[in-house]
Amino acid sequence: MELVSRTVVLAALMAFFGIVLTSAHSDHYAYEKEPNYWYDLGQQELQAALRMKQQGVAKNLILFLGDGMGVTTVTGGRIWAGQQHGLYGEEHLLSWDKFPFVGLSKTYNVDSQTTDSAASATAFLCGIKTRQGVLSVDGRAVRGNCSKMAGNEVESIMNWALAAGKSVGLISTARVTHATPAAGYARSPDRNWECDW
Ligand SMILES: *[C@@H]1O[C@H](CO)[C@@H](O)[C@H](O)[C@H]1NC(C)=O
Repeated sequence: MELVSRTVVLAALMAFFGIVLTSAHSDHYAYEKEPNYWYDLGQQELQAALRMKQQGVAKNLILFLGDGMGVTTVTGGRIWAGQQHGLYGEEHLLSWDKFPFVGLSKTYNVDSQTTDSAASATAFLCGIKTRQGVLSVDGRAVRGNCSKMAGNEVESIMNWALAAGKSVGLISTARVTHATPAAGYARSPDRNWECDW
């Protein structure tokens, strides 16, 4: 009895304040309840994948990195963006949801299960896994020790592009000496050595 009255009070308060709760169990669209909607959608996506042909070889490359932007963050972003368009959100497609290919990576490094930006930037810009906190040096280097650095430096994709006669550029919304952008052009046994003071 008490539970019922509490529920009634809660419902009245929610109605008063105009609170609407949405959850995975609320109904979406009527057409989503028809099996044919999903079969057709599956066929459309399959046919689009079959029609896809390689369009020659890429001439240039833009690597766009969202810091911390894993699958769950992207899912949250997709739902939020869809809701800004008056949708439920889950059915929305972000621009890169329409890209033809997707790849996933394992982001551990050589001395840590959860990588930091310096080691992960060294991985995706230089192609090697290394230690936590070091920039563009391999796992034989020791964080914070200059004497262990010589001979353990690696080249980044920016160096490879320059060697192939390309122009390169780096744009960052963080300061350019921050770990993620810095691995593109700097080598350091410690990500925090951004300047002398
Ligand atoms: C750096 O490495 C050298 C060579 O192994 C060692 O002698 C020195 O004590 C290390 N310095 C620090 C600060 O750990």
